Parts: sequence; structure tokens; C-alpha cells
Amino acid sequence: MRPASPDDLMRAFVECAAHAPNERTRSVLTSLAAHLHAFVVETKLTHVELTTGLDMLCRAGSISTGERDEFALLSDMLAVTALVDMLNTPPYATSSSALGPFFQRNVPAFRNGGDLWRGQVGEPLVISGRIVDGCSRKGVADARIQVWQNADNGLYAAQDSSQPPLNYHGSLDCSEDGDFAFTTTRFRPYTVPGDGPVGEMLRALGRQAWRPAHLHLVAQAPRYRPLVTEFYSHDDPYLDSDAAFGVRDDLVVRLQLVQGPPEVGVPLEAASRLPPRFWHGELQIRLAPDNE
Ligand SMILES: [Fe+2]
Repeated sequence: MRPASPDDLMRAFVECAAHAPNERTRSVLTSLAAHLHAFVVETKLTHVELTTGLDMLCRAGSISTGERDEFALLSDMLAVTALVDMLNTPPYATSSSALGPFFQRNVPAFRNGGDLWRGQVGEPLVISGRIVDGCSRKGVADARIQVWQNADNGLYAAQDSSQPPLNYHGSLDCSEDGDFAFTTTRFRPYTVPGDGPVGEMLRALGRQAWRPAHLHLVAQAPRYRPLVTEFYSHDDPYLDSDAAFGVRDDLVVRLQLVQGPPEVGVPLEAASRLPPRFWHGELQIRLAPDNE
């Protein structure tokens, strides 16, 4: 067809995609085009604005590297990642979050009750918790967690040559009841990168770039969906203004200053080195069966 109107253009797009080999791909891309067309019509987008947007995407590609993904950041800052997380979390499971740019595939395993703190600068923190079935709330056997966070200076190991590689990264096997514990330090708020096109977008919108302090965690167990999430400290000043829109009520953990021997159900390797007062946070992680 020879399109003569905005509606014709959309009809032409749908027509030419009619024989796409994969139905889901056809459906998603046709819907994307329809929403983009509606956006252009609604905003009466000008040539200059279109060129500016395309230039931003082009520069997002140029600034991206193996370690930096400006498109993932764009998705986070547009609240698209959070929306996908929200729509794909079953109601009885722990909310999921973005994997983020500092996830590492091959991290050292440490024993349940082990130590990521290793006496480094920061406020010592004991994290304990249990992996449970989201429906029955019973402990899950053969669960494994991977955790990572930033150091007291707000930087992840990959951003900071003064830290050992994979500092504050590790994975551990939980007990048969799904219990786990480890020592670390309090994680810190940080800002997302502002030196690329996404930073320009944040400034153009008058937005701040802070993310509340969080502990990244991936939980896996046989016959359950893997969970990628983040836990936030209850007293963080950015809980209600997270640049990545990632905070959910069930991900906010009350960190409490406690005294004396920690009673967390799992012997702590660093128990004797903890100061008289230290922080403690208790997590409950609800997994969804993988057949749903
Ligand atoms: Fe993070």
C-alpha cells in the first residue's frame, strides 16, 4: 500500500510484518511501533526532536563497553526495568530487581556463616535469613545465594582499583532449611553515571541520580525460579526517590544495632571479631516454583 495518512503508516507496518516467522516477535514489535506512532502524534514530534533522540541512542551505544551498558541504564532511569520486574513477579514471591552493572558471573564461594567484611573500613553488619517457598513459606532445600554490594566508599570493586577484585562479592550454599548468614559492612547509597546521554536526560528532567544503599542478591534452588533482587536499608534517605525506581516495601530491611553474641542460627566465622555493637538485618526470601 501507499500510505497517505498516519493511520495508513501503521497499517502498512502491520501488513509488512504479517509473515514474521515468530509470532511473539511480530506481536511485540508491532505493539512497539504502534506506541511509538501514538507518541509521535501525541507530542507532535519535530524533526529536531527526533534527531536529538536518535543522537542520544547513538551516543548511548558509543559510550557502552563490556563493563558499562548505557541502554540498561536508560531502561532503569525510564522505570522500564522496574515495570518489567513488577509485572513478572508473582504476588507471593519476593519482588525482583535489576541485575545491575556490577553482577559478576564467577565469584568466590564462601561458607554459610562466612565473612565478606574481612575487617575493612565500614560499619559491620550481620545479614541472616531464610529462603522459603513463596506459597508454603517452608524452608527450601539446596538453595544458593550470590550477594554483592559496594564498599564503605560507595564504590563497587569493579569501579575502584584500591579494592581487591571481587571484593564484597560471593556465593554460599544455604542450610537444608534454607537458612543463611554472613558478615559484611553496611552498603552505601551511590549515584548512577552522569557522564553519558542518560545523565544528560536526568539533568534535562531536573532529576537526582542517587540510588538508595542496597545489597544485591540472587537466590536459586532446584525447581524454583531464580530470583534477582536488591534489599534496601530502612533508614536510607533515598528510599522514596530511587533514580531506578527499584524500592518495594518487601525489599526494605530494618537494620538494627544489636549487642552481644549474634543469634542467627548459623555459626558466624567472624563472630569473635565483631565490635560490641554491630548492625543486623534479617531477610526472608520467597521463591516461586518454576512451573508457574
Ligand atoms: Fe547496585
